[in-house]
Amino acid sequence: MSRILLTGGLGYIGSHCAVELLENGHEVVIIDNLYNSKVEVLDYIRQITSKEAVFYQGDCCDESFLSDVFSKESIDAVVHLAGYKAVGESVVQPLKYYSNNVNATIALLNAMKNHNVNRLVFSSSATVYENSGSYEKIEKDKLWCTNPYGFTKMFSEQIIRDYCVSNQSFSAINLRYFNPIGAHPSGLIGENPNGIPNNLMPYIQQVAVGILPMLKVYGNDYDTVDGTGMRDYIHVVDLAKAHLSAISYLLENDIKGCDDINIGTGKSTSVLQLVNAFQKANNITIPYVIVERREGDIANIYADTTKAKQILNWQSKYSIEDMCKDAYHWQLNLQKKRKLL
Ligand code: NAD
Ligand code: UD1
Repeated sequence: MSRILLTGGLGYIGSHCAVELLENGHEVVIIDNLYNSKVEVLDYIRQITSKEAVFYQGDCCDESFLSDVFSKESIDAVVHLAGYKAVGESVVQPLKYYSNNVNATIALLNAMKNHNVNRLVFSSSATVYENSGSYEKIEKDKLWCTNPYGFTKMFSEQIIRDYCVSNQSFSAINLRYFNPIGAHPSGLIGENPNGIPNNLMPYIQQVAVGILPMLKVYGNDYDTVDGTGMRDYIHVVDLAKAHLSAISYLLENDIKGCDDINIGTGKSTSVLQLVNAFQKANNITIPYVIVERREGDIANIYADTTKAKQILNWQSKYSIEDMCKDAYHWQLNLQKKRKLL
């Protein structure tokens, strides 16, 4: 049993990581500034696991706050999820993104250094891969980004890599997530974006419950199975389990240095295939219209998952059908809660 700090631990992915860690015998300490999450999530984590996570409200860019937390808690390893994640907003407000996402990584590494905490898992993204060559991405492929959000991930990865070189006791894993969707099967935690969702699955969910009238499918003239864009969708619970594996790997082995590992299913699904799967799994209709391509989008991308299997002994288990069912269940519960308010 170890004591794991989750930065951004009340967010969509962090809350699922908290559940997996608690259910597997770890203690969990959460830091979140509630920029994109609600404190009620703590209660839902408790309801699912019957266990308590320790919570500190504060900002990861604030090194003295981080230092206080490390002084009070005896932390064995950190999962660093805190950050802003809206690609479009990062283009309009790049400094906000560089300032928060890169500074949080630096402040965290400084605090870890000062408190001799030497194991880190970082939330990176498949967005760091340059859009060229094969659709299947291998960790050693070339990196380049098309927006400030992506660069904050690319730079944070590099900062972590450089710090690992300078500190021989420190080891880290940059997990490159592909497209996390779905929600915890309990329906208690999931993704609840502010405003109109940018990403496909949250948009489908809102069409499904009548918040939005119809889905706009961005282009059907790509070189793919049916002309619509293809992505490697991964159930958020599978993704959370990958964090558990990464933490165990770092704590149980005498690892040196930094590694990058893709977290996806290794298969891609088109927009229309996902819409059809959602309709079938939930027995409902999702009205849609084909519109122009979205700027910056690519035809297809999916993970080579060899490294995740070999190093972390992890692979995804949930199907697209599970992702669709759990996403809809969560959205329905959210609607019920809204009506009660
Ligand atoms: P999220 O917004 O739901 O969670 C992030 C959490 O971090 C939020 O609760 C927010 O309040 C908190 N936070 C932000 N800045 C903070 C700061 N300076 N100090 C303290 N707390 C702060 O996002 P998510 O989808 O759970 O993503 C988690 C991480 O994974 C992010 O770093 C994101 O960039 C990365 N990621 C997400 C996806 C995805 O599709 N969701 C894909 C790839 C990578
Ligand atoms: C987005 C982010 C990416 C991030 C990833 C994580 C952008 C430009 N990129 O990528 O940086 O790492 O999420 O999850 O935001 N689609 C529609 N209609 C919609 C929404 C999406 O047809 O209303 C299509 C898109 O064209 C794409 C697919 O659905 O083909 C998936 O889109 P999305 O969920 O936004 O994910 P990504 O584009 O992979």
